Amino acid sequence: MDRILSGIKPTGSLTLGNYIGALRHFRDFQDKGEVFIFIADLHALTLPIEPETLRGNSRDIAAFYLASGLDPERTTIFLQSAVPQHAELNAILQNFLYMGELRRMTQFKDKSQKMRDSAIGLGLFAYPSLMASDIVLYDATIVPVGEDQTQHVELARDLVGRFNSRYGEILTMPRAEVTRVGKRIMSLSDPTKKMSKSDPKGDIFLKDDPVSIRKKIMSAKTDSGSEVRFDPVEKPGISNLLTIYSALSDITIEEAEKRFEGSRYGDFKKAVADIVLETLVPFQERYRQILSSGEYLEVLHKGAERASREAEKVLSRVQHAVGLLDE
Ligand code: AMP
Ligand code: TRP
Repeated sequence: MDRILSGIKPTGSLTLGNYIGALRHFRDFQDKGEVFIFIADLHALTLPIEPETLRGNSRDIAAFYLASGLDPERTTIFLQSAVPQHAELNAILQNFLYMGELRRMTQFKDKSQKMRDSAIGLGLFAYPSLMASDIVLYDATIVPVGEDQTQHVELARDLVGRFNSRYGEILTMPRAEVTRVGKRIMSLSDPTKKMSKSDPKGDIFLKDDPVSIRKKIMSAKTDSGSEVRFDPVEKPGISNLLTIYSALSDITIEEAEKRFEGSRYGDFKKAVADIVLETLVPFQERYRQILSSGEYLEVLHKGAERASREAEKVLSRVQHAVGLLDE
């Protein structure tokens, strides 16, 4: 049976990109294997963040997980920091990743580009090491992520190969599973940039009120010409909206193109806004209910207990394999 594991880091307010690229798929995996979904709060510390913001974001993600239909009876939902084995395993596995390969990580290059060396935390550089530990700690076979995270999963695979060739079949080989439609949702104000929790005009946040969601979509940057056609190079704005539309209505891009053949940009945008609101409004209602009832607290508590029991098995295996005394 497959073990499925993924996480989201609580660095900001979740966006429609997180929803389409990651969150909405987690529920479907519950029928395909044993699912572990966590809040990557230790990863959120890799860039400066206010304590209250971090706490609030973590609560939000817990409530979003439940609102998206994850069933805590079937899925283990937990905070990364509540399971100490993540950090313990990382302390061992970090020795099997090398400076050169970490330096080549696109996410590290993007995030550190504008920073002085003296301001880049070691954790930001070592980010993929903790992420690889997250993955192998549960013997995960499938890691559902958006496209931006596949490079990190590839590095985790390299690490597994390297570790196992030295110590035997200790770690389980994972693979990334990237969604077919919507692996990379772009900003509405600049469709050449990823939608990424940082641009209030171009990002649709899952917590945005319906009026501003509609407004953002209606004023999304579009391209010259008037045809609703999928062409990410010539028409990045329209293509992004087509991606959003087809992902949320569960049809292919070609089907969406056909549906809007001959439509004007304005009518097309209105249809995109309608489908986004149809999805997000009931989702937001469930989210608010879960947050105010506090039911996520019990879920996180039980989740961490279960996760920790599973994690201990792999950690012991690794500790023993590398020669730490375990009697
Ligand atoms: P992060 O917000 O970086 O913790 O990402 C959480 C998950 O959402 C990861 O699987 C990402 O790949 C995915 N994700 C983030 N931004 C986008 C986006 N703009 N389009 C598609 N997937 C995304
Ligand atoms: N790095 C991921 C992101 O930014 C979050 C994450 C941390 C993750 N650990 C993970 C995702 C393990 C999948 C598996 O989106």
